[in-house]
Amino acid sequence: MCGIVGIVGSQPVSERLVDALKRLEYRGYDSAGVATIKDGELHRRRAEGKLVNLEGKLREEPLAGTIGIAHTRWATHGAPTERNAHPHFTDGVAVVHNGIIENFAELKAELASAGAEFQTETDTEVVAQLLASFRREGMGRREAMHAMLKRVSGAYALAVLFEDDPSTIMAARNGPPLAIGHGEGEMFLGSDAIALAPFTNEITYLVDGDWAVIGRASVHIFDIDGNLVTRPRQISMAAAYMIDKGNHRHFMEKEIHEQPEVISHALGHYVNFIENRVLPVSGVIDFAKVPSLAISACGTAYLAGLIGKYWFERYARLPVEIDVASEFRYREIPLSPQSAALFISQSGETADTLASLRYCKEHGLKIGAVVNTRESTIARESDAVFPILAGPEIGVASTKAFTCQLAVLASLAIAAGRARGTLGEEEEQAMVKSLAEMPRLMSRVLNSIQPKIEFLSRELAKCRDVLYLGRGTSFPLAMEGALKLKEISYIHAEGYAAGELKHGPIALIDENMPVIVIAPHDRFFDKTVSNMQEVAARGGRIILITDEKGAAATTLDTMHTIVLPNVDEIVAPMIFSLPVQLLAYHTAVFMGTDVDQPRNLAKSVTVE
Ligand code: AGP
Repeated sequence: MCGIVGIVGSQPVSERLVDALKRLEYRGYDSAGVATIKDGELHRRRAEGKLVNLEGKLREEPLAGTIGIAHTRWATHGAPTERNAHPHFTDGVAVVHNGIIENFAELKAELASAGAEFQTETDTEVVAQLLASFRREGMGRREAMHAMLKRVSGAYALAVLFEDDPSTIMAARNGPPLAIGHGEGEMFLGSDAIALAPFTNEITYLVDGDWAVIGRASVHIFDIDGNLVTRPRQISMAAAYMIDKGNHRHFMEKEIHEQPEVISHALGHYVNFIENRVLPVSGVIDFAKVPSLAISACGTAYLAGLIGKYWFERYARLPVEIDVASEFRYREIPLSPQSAALFISQSGETADTLASLRYCKEHGLKIGAVVNTRESTIARESDAVFPILAGPEIGVASTKAFTCQLAVLASLAIAAGRARGTLGEEEEQAMVKSLAEMPRLMSRVLNSIQPKIEFLSRELAKCRDVLYLGRGTSFPLAMEGALKLKEISYIHAEGYAAGELKHGPIALIDENMPVIVIAPHDRFFDKTVSNMQEVAARGGRIILITDEKGAAATTLDTMHTIVLPNVDEIVAPMIFSLPVQLLAYHTAVFMGTDVDQPRNLAKSVTVE
């Protein structure tokens, strides 16, 4: 998704703006630009591709000025060209935008018929053109800003410079996040607190409908009706985390190896390791009383939710209705207002997930958010927040957030089982003891499987298609493995319920398509072995991911077998995530793709 930064500074800003954009690269983008005001004139530099290209232009033609805005663009309307890159200029107005102006075509036609000449194919340009036209009609800057906001509809985070006012940035938010950073004689604006971390940790988040007039020493925030409002000033934790790769080649590699540590942070928030009990869930969501639970999320977060469904239903006997967020609210699911709903989101800003949350809220459900970003919109709009404490996840492909989401969902499912009387104390203690073992087991696995994984990755890198199979909670994990591989190596991959193989996918089996089977020695193991035999009988090549018991029980001739420690069912999805993540990672590294910022992908998808 696009990234926005702005500085109303007391010293030159262009280099600091580009540095702040670098902290937003993880969001995904395909062009970038910066604009400043110097001696009463707007100036800009823009470039296609990565920030290094924009830095090159700035080296050739530096930008002066102590006030500026900058942007990384993830193309929605118009190709990722320099011409379509932000900031967009029109008659002394510069605009950067994250989101989609849904009525841009109507506005563009209206403005063009009044003589406006458009330079780009973007929706954003209508914002600059509208502001310029209102200024030509004699409106002041604030009046023009307010009038523009009354005309546009859709999702936007905006930053605006007016050439005739070198002391103010105007900003507006409706959907994609926007934060104001409070400095010493300087003010900052950014899409998230990570971008602002080098400047300040004192942050004010705008809420939907807000717009702001940001000066060097003052901020005035208005609601959509133009009433002055106040928003809380909070201390962001983003600055506390070192946002760098350490001694890893990629953020994704670092985040895979951080999992033992961050899992213990997550569990520590939900588990009493002394008594081996989960902490009861207090507050508005009472698992003892809810008749059912809805879960909605996107991508990897959805797959975590799918595993959570198995746990809530098995351990708490709690029926779960789950769907990907882009489908959830259109199915008109008969939701009971007595029910609760969980929304899982690493960024806490995914537009589809937020829309599903609002749909459930309208239907009277109690809302819980399982999020990594406590300052996010999804967290703010929930009745209960369940933080996953994974620390900032920069790699676009989610890894540590996924396993921390699972750890939290496992804790909540056990708490729900206790609250509903479906889980005895001994059973709970045994499961919590297994959860407590996870950090140590994860470290052991990460230190032992790397060589075999790297060897296997070279084989996978030659393939065009890969099939992942699993049963029970290994089925959503098979889908997660396929998602990881396809999103960073661009190899087509599918995750399937192993039992479904004979209902179609078996037609695909041949020696060119490896079949990765995720099979801990659990109650499904023998049936999964039968599926593997069906594959082997047709010349398929199998990569088996199992545990010591499974390896000992398998006589099948597999292409390779990755052996993990024997683990209890409740922790298997987290432990078996590790080889799945590493396989995708090393295959992508071997193929030379952009592991941390895969093509076309964004870390936080803030448009529907
Ligand atoms: C995961 O590897 C992907 N990057 C993507 O599917 C992601 O999980 C999805 O976009 C949801 O993001 P969220 O957790 O921030 O809501």
